Amino acid sequence: MSLHNINPTKTLSWEKLTNHFQDIQHTTIKEYYKDPNRKQDFSIQFQDVFVDFSKNRISKETISLLVNLAKEVGLKEAIESQFSGEVINVTENRAVLHTALRSNSDEPILVDGKNIKPQIQAALRKIKSFTNKVTSGKWKGYTGKPITDIVNIGIGGSDLGPDMIVESLKFYKNQLNTHFVSNVDGDHVSEIIKKLNPETTLFVIVSKTFTTQETLSNAETIKNWFLKSATIFDIPKHFVAVSTNLEAIDNFGISKENVFPMWDWVGGRFSLWSAVGLSISLSVGFENYKALLDGAEAMDIHFRNEDFENNIPVILALISIWYNNFYNAETEAVLPYSQYLSKLPAYLQQAIMESNGKGVDRNGDKIDYQTGTIVWGSTGTNMQHAFMQLVHQGTKLIPADFIGFKESLYGLTDHHKKLMANLYGQMDALAFGKTAEEVHLELKSSGKEDKIATLLPFKVFEGNRPSNAILIDKLTPESLGKLVALYEHKIFTQGILWNIYSYDQFGVELGKELANKLLKNQ
Ligand code: F6P
Repeated sequence: MSLHNINPTKTLSWEKLTNHFQDIQHTTIKEYYKDPNRKQDFSIQFQDVFVDFSKNRISKETISLLVNLAKEVGLKEAIESQFSGEVINVTENRAVLHTALRSNSDEPILVDGKNIKPQIQAALRKIKSFTNKVTSGKWKGYTGKPITDIVNIGIGGSDLGPDMIVESLKFYKNQLNTHFVSNVDGDHVSEIIKKLNPETTLFVIVSKTFTTQETLSNAETIKNWFLKSATIFDIPKHFVAVSTNLEAIDNFGISKENVFPMWDWVGGRFSLWSAVGLSISLSVGFENYKALLDGAEAMDIHFRNEDFENNIPVILALISIWYNNFYNAETEAVLPYSQYLSKLPAYLQQAIMESNGKGVDRNGDKIDYQTGTIVWGSTGTNMQHAFMQLVHQGTKLIPADFIGFKESLYGLTDHHKKLMANLYGQMDALAFGKTAEEVHLELKSSGKEDKIATLLPFKVFEGNRPSNAILIDKLTPESLGKLVALYEHKIFTQGILWNIYSYDQFGVELGKELANKLLKNQ
């Protein structure tokens, strides 16, 4: 069974949503909050992940109509198609199976009639044994010294995912220092090389295609730098690769036993769960890497089995569609209240915008409604002192996800209380604002009555600005896996509803072609 190709705007559910929007568009979050059960009715707890979506411009009817839309376009069947390995990436003639990479079940998944689970298990065993050798110091460099530094050479999905996870799990890191080289800007690689000793550095070249200009240029530059002090016979001790392109790896001089597999049924931006995540495993140890995968699997099971009304990725996807397609919101903010998650917004920009930035539907027709949202963000509380002014009082509607952890990792409870108070404070300010009456009273009681006439309009917060809270008990490899998988499934759900193909990325090709042409003519 393939995906349905239904234009969402032509469905009965869409028509009902359009009418419903006319009815409730002026109802405020403050008014919804008069219901004492609001928070309870508009939140979902799944294991250690609590999602509060009560501060949105939605009623129970909105959710029910959006859920009907999801049903009408065949989301349930689409989820099954994805998990069972059907070729849902039609334009590239591929299955989409990053979920298989983290599956602990024995259920076979067939690609071209062959069960892929044994290859996944074999790759995991290889990652584990390699990780253990390097982290224990048994793996030696060409002068007999243990490895101290890892350099991941890759770009896009072969960089952003591993980089984001390594940064997010810094608390769990071992003695190895991990670096990431991605940009073709030679100054990037030069700055990284500067810190390295070739005798104790291991390079992980990550490229699904092994044709990417940036990655190959950086790998060549690094190899040449390495060969200034070592010989080509030392390369096996210092260079490993993750790719589907065995021939190109061989040409580069990497030995077969140093190659970790990648498969065409894993999209680059969803590949951190494959050997593309080798630098994660090296940085935090295999057990933590496996816990990350297990967390993602828990979210997969939730997404696959839970009713849409209680399904976190589905609900967040539907609410985002509500703003994107009915309120004409253009962007959404992702605001983690954890310094560890500082790279999450950049990672999500690729995952979301490369997936759902499409203007042609699954029938090949030009789309006349809005699809992929623009995603941006930064960490709290820093961003409160930067861009939040616009989110609070600007002219644009920017729905935001606030991500927080109940517990901090180092246990500075005083800091953590302040951090979380800020998270809740921001959400309340956005939702409920401050009325003219409140500003009036405030100025009066602080003895600034004479300023009321001039200052009052500037100090009013109209509120009614939507946000979700994603609150997790503690930042662990497992909970991080759940969080990332949550967003992956949100992307999938939105792609299905918008009737687009989320797993190709032809839009990145033209610029590459033109750059190559320009290079040739130079
Ligand atoms: O820029 C597009 C893209 O194809 C991404 O989707 C991908 O993650 C990145 O380039 C890197 O590709 P590769 O892993 O093949 O080097």
